[in-house]
Amino acid sequence: MISLTRTTTAIHPRAPDFETPHFKTALSRFATGVAVITAFASDNAKCDAQGSHFVGMTISSFNSVSLSPPLILWSLGLHSSNLPALRASTHYVVNVLAADQLTLCQRFASGKGDRFAQTDYSLGQVGLPILKGALAWFECHNRSRYEEGDHVIFVGEVERCGFSENKPPLIYQTSRFGTTAPFELAA
Ligand SMILES: Cc1cc2nc3c(=O)[nH]c(=O)nc-3n(C[C@H](O)[C@H](O)[C@H](O)COP(=O)(O)O)c2cc1C
Repeated sequence: MISLTRTTTAIHPRAPDFETPHFKTALSRFATGVAVITAFASDNAKCDAQGSHFVGMTISSFNSVSLSPPLILWSLGLHSSNLPALRASTHYVVNVLAADQLTLCQRFASGKGDRFAQTDYSLGQVGLPILKGALAWFECHNRSRYEEGDHVIFVGEVERCGFSENKPPLIYQTSRFGTTAPFELAA
């Protein structure tokens, strides 16, 4: 019987025939949404550094995994200063950004200052920030983590979620930000 818990192939891959910048450019062609992860700061050093009891960072690696149970995933670079907090936090919130939240996206992608100081948010059921104006939010139990290459894949079990009116989303593609322009298909 094949175990579906975690499968890796026994056949070794060939070494890549490309350099990392080439790979990054190919990946950048894939358009994604943008989200901000919010979680509890795990240690005093991080609290002091950001001046807040929370950590937050911009991601584009969010994706859905399962409907039942409700699971999502996203990945975090091993060198992120947020890694200890995100490993330790029992919960995190994935805040999906709208097109009019580019400033928030940039604030939570920069390493400087208290990212929450000028940010409007409310606290959800577990006490974590849900950003005002987010297109959708997912309050997740920090279910499992898988270290792969230079990233950690976080799988979250969604305990609560919500969404706002169908505003245009923030889209990231080829290192540029934009929004969607839906096709008007004939009926
Ligand atoms: C559009 C966009 C998407 C990003 N997606 C990710 C991601 O999925 N995973 C990740 O680890 N970093 C991602 N980053 C980078 C982090 O936001 C940023 O490097 C990080 O917050 C820097 O601070 P830190 O060292 O405190 O983590 C992204 C940045 C931008 C602008």
